[in-house]
Amino acid sequence: MSYPEWKVMTNRCWDEMGEEAVSDQKKGIPKPEILKKYGSREIIKLPEPKSDILNGKDLIQIIWDRRSVRVYKDESVALEKLAFVLWAGQRVKKIFKEGLASFRTVPSAGARHPFESYIFVRNVVGLEMGLYHYLANEHKLELIKKGDFKNEIAAATLGQMFVGSAPFTYILTAIPYRTEWRYGRFSPKLVLLDAGHVLQNIYIACEGVGLGTCAIDAFSDKSMNEVMDLDGEEEFVVYLAPGGIPKK
Ligand SMILES: Cc1cc2nc3c(=O)[nH]c(=O)nc-3n(C[C@H](O)[C@H](O)[C@H](O)COP(=O)(O)O)c2cc1C
Repeated sequence: MSYPEWKVMTNRCWDEMGEEAVSDQKKGIPKPEILKKYGSREIIKLPEPKSDILNGKDLIQIIWDRRSVRVYKDESVALEKLAFVLWAGQRVKKIFKEGLASFRTVPSAGARHPFESYIFVRNVVGLEMGLYHYLANEHKLELIKKGDFKNEIAAATLGQMFVGSAPFTYILTAIPYRTEWRYGRFSPKLVLLDAGHVLQNIYIACEGVGLGTCAIDAFSDKSMNEVMDLDGEEEFVVYLAPGGIPKK
């Protein structure tokens, strides 16, 4: 991509854009929903994090020790630890302006938070194997579908077997219109910047509780969206992060 093309995609050239700079919000189009719910009957309440989960580790050590981890022990992960990772990535702290926006554990441009979090669970204490959606406002999981999607995820991530076979795999999706409604065509840049914050919190939370993770962007969009039953337009997968106890 040439620099001028990149600039058009990412820069806020308000003066050069005329009509295009007028967002749906400015046009008075009603705001999109900022939370998704499947309405599953199988809901799991997650434990709230307590500071002893860090086992005495301090932030300086956690940041220094963080690495990408791709090999995990064949051992189950405690639900408290997975709950903390989800909390760190997306937990809603406050919804304001009558549902216009939210504050979460990560920053987001315009507090739009264009993400949904999912967990493919293979080996977590107390959870059945399957795909779950994180209810970020309630700190709960809802079961979307039971089953082992290890092979589908490994194939979709271009043969990265560890992504499918990890004790859990965090899957971050974007609903881009939440951001587009306010920022129009600048949104791709903002959504991807926001995704980085989420993954960094996932890395730091994992490191803090003795888990390892690895950011994954090498996947087939089409195949990953198929695994998740997403249309790839209104919502699509942007990032993955398998996790487990590191095998040293
Ligand atoms: C945007 C992004 C995409 C990445 N995608 C992959 C991936 O698909 N597979 C993989 O094994 N590692 C992936 N990584 C991890 C990097 O390889 C890793 O961060 C880098 O080698 C530095 O190592 P460190 O994280 O241990 O410091 C990705 C990292 C980032 C930030």
